[in-house]
Amino acid sequence: MSKRAAAALVAGAMVAVLTACGSGGGGGSAGKGSGHKLVVGFSQVGAESGWRTANTKSIQESAKKAGIELKFSDAQQKQENQIKAIRSFIQQKVDVIAFSPVVESGWDTVLKEAKDAHIPVILTDRAVDSKDESLYVSFLGSDFVEEGKKAGDWLVKEYQGKPGDVNVVQLEGTTGSAPANDRKSGFADAVKGEPKFKVVASQTGDFTRAKGKEVMQAFLKSQPKIDVLYAHNDDMALGAIQAIEEAGKKPGADIRIVSVDGVKDAFTAMSQGKINYDVECNPLLGDQLMDLVKKVKAGESVPRRIKTEEGAFTPEQATAALPNRQY
Ligand code: AHR
Repeated sequence: MSKRAAAALVAGAMVAVLTACGSGGGGGSAGKGSGHKLVVGFSQVGAESGWRTANTKSIQESAKKAGIELKFSDAQQKQENQIKAIRSFIQQKVDVIAFSPVVESGWDTVLKEAKDAHIPVILTDRAVDSKDESLYVSFLGSDFVEEGKKAGDWLVKEYQGKPGDVNVVQLEGTTGSAPANDRKSGFADAVKGEPKFKVVASQTGDFTRAKGKEVMQAFLKSQPKIDVLYAHNDDMALGAIQAIEEAGKKPGADIRIVSVDGVKDAFTAMSQGKINYDVECNPLLGDQLMDLVKKVKAGESVPRRIKTEEGAFTPEQATAALPNRQY
């Protein structure tokens, strides 16, 4: 090889290295171009429900498929654990931070720290109530108000033309969380024009089966007449079904049940006539999240809000969907 050819080869290689170093958006020192694996720090709420397990699996599998290194942290339903995890991601200089906030408020300080470190933040599944929209680049997840509204609309239709009061008990999700706040308000809005619907008791079951059962047991003791249970998620509804059966009543008949999520176990209960309506909340957010991460790091503009598409199921529809249900 001539000296000139060798020099050209070296210069070409240097350009390639410099190009690689220069690519990628703002963020931690870890993500520096095509040869480098992007690193995402993800803080998950916990493992409180079947929905959450499916969501975690989706995120982990999609990261692997996309060739993204995922630093995964389980907060066990505690905000302080999420704040610690986010701070540790900042220290590790990850490329992007994504998280599903356990509650809506109290994030501004830590999100400001991420912003100061030039690490973009993507909210998945749940929102924060921060006034400063510059603290995160995008929010990917369901419209929880709409989900609550769908549950309420179903109830209104179901009892149309039927006289008499309808006593409703409500199992709320984690206090202060976006899905609990929004599913409650969406439902209240849908039934507010119909005074016959009375929410006679409403309490948190923390989105878990065990708490759902415990709170339903208390409702059954304190309420002389319960017509309907509205559960903010399927796990609480499934726990409540156990309580109702143990009290000698028939779930789905003596007490009608409307729930949210659409997980397999709930569809099985629907096929047995124990849940009357299930509003879908799709946990399979992994592929969309990884796509967003890549775009953000490439400096592309991304929508500030990406809503998940979802439906709702009658027992017949759930029974038909059950064999192919992924979660
Ligand atoms: O944020 C989504 C909600 O959180 C799901 O409805 C519930 O099952 C989960 O725990």
